[in-house]
Amino acid sequence: MFTDNQDDTSKHSRVCIITGANSGIGLEAAKQISDKGYEVILACRSESRGKKAENDIKDLNPSANVKFMKLDLGSLDSIRHFVDDFHATGKPLHVLCNNAGLETSGYQQTEDGFEMTLGVNHLGHFLLTHLLLEDLKKTAERGEDVRIVVTASEVHNPKSPGGDRGVPAHIDLDNVMVTDPDSYDSWLTYKNSKLANVLFTYELARRLKDSGITANCLCPGFIPETGLLRDISMMRRFALYLVLPLLKWKGVVRTVKDGGETVAMVATDEKLKGVSGKYYVNTEEKESSKESYDKEIAIGFWKISENFVKLDEKYKIPAVM
Ligand SMILES: NC(=O)c1ccc[n+]([C@@H]2O[C@H](COP(=O)([O-])OP(=O)(O)OC[C@H]3O[C@@H](n4cnc5c(N)ncnc54)[C@H](OP(=O)(O)O)[C@@H]3O)[C@@H](O)[C@H]2O)c1
Repeated sequence: MFTDNQDDTSKHSRVCIITGANSGIGLEAAKQISDKGYEVILACRSESRGKKAENDIKDLNPSANVKFMKLDLGSLDSIRHFVDDFHATGKPLHVLCNNAGLETSGYQQTEDGFEMTLGVNHLGHFLLTHLLLEDLKKTAERGEDVRIVVTASEVHNPKSPGGDRGVPAHIDLDNVMVTDPDSYDSWLTYKNSKLANVLFTYELARRLKDSGITANCLCPGFIPETGLLRDISMMRRFALYLVLPLLKWKGVVRTVKDGGETVAMVATDEKLKGVSGKYYVNTEEKESSKESYDKEIAIGFWKISENFVKLDEKYKIPAVM
């Protein structure tokens, strides 16, 4: 934890929190955002990996203003502690990048008993966003550009390459979270968690309309060199090994630098100032899946998410009717 209480927030540069910033797309985005002069908080679950990321960024750019702070999105307690630690710094907040994500090979649970993929990729970020909203609102009330950015994925869309493999992504409001390890499908659960990211972003954008805070989501592209696929089954690893040359030849495979650029663009690009409720793939705005625009599912899912994380009334954001 670092403390830096200052009353005069105008002394600060723009501050960005990015989750999952010790690896892959998050680390690259953190570098690029700090290169633009932002103060970047690397919100990571492992102290050693988080500090290494901090040092790696400073080695590349000694004037980078980056700092690790501990955040485990698989623990509601850790999320609350992270927010307390952030508040203790006295810093304002301009950009929140909900980027961390994982795909597990088998059924796992978070500390609070949620299925791990939905728990980390959606529920952890859902709580984090609510607990940081007052900070974002305060910055927006000063007329500053304030953004929430969510790293989703094209695979949320059953019509996309990859998204069309296996059972299509769907949020079933009667059965949002897998609880039976025997029926666990890691690919479907990951796709559902990414659909959850898009539904959440659009509903957030609707609820925050006229608040001065924007909410957008993105797909960074298919980037097999990150750590995301580290836990996939041997069978999927082998299938990927077979198709990778073809995908590279077709130009589908992107680099970590490209993926980081997409996050950094949505987080900082001047031309996106005031733009909200959009989905970007690589650097282009794109339509997301049909279901991701379903307001009834979004509102029902929001309510269920509030109940899962036991959201205190004072943090609730009313739905727009
Ligand atoms: N790579 C792709 O092809 C691709 C495509 C579309 C979307 N995405 C999305 O891009 C985002 C970043 O993934 P990536 O590809 O860069 O993979 P990555 O290298 O594995 O990075 C994922 C990050 O999430 C962090 N994380 C995982 N569980 C966490 C937890 N409980 N609490 C806090 N942080 C946690 C990881 O931290 P640890 O090091 O501690 O595990 C890591 O820093 C994800 O949301 C992913 O769904 C990736």
